[in-house]
Amino acid sequence: MVTEVTPEFVITDELAQKIDRVLDEHDHDATQIVGVLLDVQDLIEQKYVPRPVAFYIAQKLPIKVSVIYDCLTFYNALSEKPRAKYPVQVCRSVTCKINGSDTLFQTVKDILGVEPGEVTYDGRFMIEEVSCFGACDVAPAIRINGKVYGHLDTPDKVREVLAEFM
Ligand code: FES
Repeated sequence: MVTEVTPEFVITDELAQKIDRVLDEHDHDATQIVGVLLDVQDLIEQKYVPRPVAFYIAQKLPIKVSVIYDCLTFYNALSEKPRAKYPVQVCRSVTCKINGSDTLFQTVKDILGVEPGEVTYDGRFMIEEVSCFGACDVAPAIRINGKVYGHLDTPDKVREVLAEFM
């Protein structure tokens, strides 16, 4: 029987320097941990916080690694698992739903050709169904790498937004 082993993520010197810069920008302030994790996640192609990176940050701040994992599991903008270069987060909460998020969701799936949780063949896109991320005033909305795109109430508007990334 062959067991597949996922190679451990390696922190290159270049990445370590970039992470150090993020920590400097946040004054090594542990109360800014969510902002730190968002900025660090953005440095990584698959938009997640790999385990060695979580431990690196925990050691450098310093902060308990369990606090980092609490953040990674609590905030839907963060991920501890590899995602895609552009995770397309579709809000599935009430205000977006009554403003047409079902059509939006279907259009995103049709354009990208994947179901939620799947990654496109080129590793660029995936779809995530998430709860309200505070953009109800522009419902229905999606969020891609921290940026919100709202009023996506027609398939054409959705296509226009996704075209920016293609
Ligand atoms: S209900 Fe969708 S952003 Fe709030």
